[in-house]
Amino acid sequence: MNDSEEIYDDVEVSEVRLLLDVVYAKYGYDFRDYAYPSVKRRILNSVATEGVASISGLLDKIQNDPACMARLLLHFTVHASSMFRHPSFYKCFREKVVPQLKTYPFVRIWHAGCSTGEEVYSMAILLHEEGIYKRSIIYATDISEDVIQKAKSGIFPMNMMKEFTSNYLKSGGIESFSDYYTAQYDNALFSSHLKENIVFAKHNLVTDASPNEFNVILCRNVMIYFKRELQNKTHELFFNSLIHFGYLGLGEKETLRFTPRENNYEEVDVSQKLYRRTA
Ligand SMILES: C[S@@+](CC[C@H](N)C(=O)[O-])C[C@H]1O[C@@H](n2cnc3c(N)ncnc32)[C@H](O)[C@@H]1O
Repeated sequence: MNDSEEIYDDVEVSEVRLLLDVVYAKYGYDFRDYAYPSVKRRILNSVATEGVASISGLLDKIQNDPACMARLLLHFTVHASSMFRHPSFYKCFREKVVPQLKTYPFVRIWHAGCSTGEEVYSMAILLHEEGIYKRSIIYATDISEDVIQKAKSGIFPMNMMKEFTSNYLKSGGIESFSDYYTAQYDNALFSSHLKENIVFAKHNLVTDASPNEFNVILCRNVMIYFKRELQNKTHELFFNSLIHFGYLGLGEKETLRFTPRENNYEEVDVSQKLYRRTA
């Protein structure tokens, strides 16, 4: 038994495990190395919303109903995001990473686990303002097809614009944020030129190979839901997907420390969780 499961009820742990095994065997989604407390909470939420009496009931339903699996997939992962989320990260990126990127003829960036795309549009705006968007390509990937479709649309609720504008200004934005979108009733439709160099694709960090070689990889607020071994495996994937001296950015509560790749990076800014591959 894994450390994080020790304090839990044995029967429940077995039921959760069985459900995760079936989900993997039947649908190919591997959640077996996600942090147990969060997985269990999400499964119990699904038990309630699917109108079944128990985890075994949910298991039966999943086996016979792919639509139930699609709903479970949406529940399984947390999709919360924001534009210029943790503005100090983007400020640091602008000040400490962009000057180096400006010296490259071509820049390739991967947003792994990009959810509905807020951070991807933030990056497109930042690169545009720094004059390097036209020679950049951004890969925006997530395990969920649903959130990728939303990201592709470039449409965000109008009532989020106050928060996004405030974050943008704190992150060192130099234009008028409202120039980047058009208001359409309750929504803000972001300019299509921001999408020109973004490739949106479904990609599973647990089971899929690297989509390319990158100058920058940002994977923020994703690995926090993984167990240690899966975090290490994902770091291996990122290390092998970064060019020499490429940059890695993690979420506020994530770190490279104590991973087997810790010594292969230098800190660009430890408080902002920005690192650079040393070789
Ligand atoms: C909390 S959101 C983070 C969004 C964004 N990176 C940010 O920081 O605002 C986590 C995202 O990771 C995605 N995710 C979870 N497991 C994944 C996996 N195995 N492969 C790819 N994406 C995954 C989820 O679907 C979700 O959209």
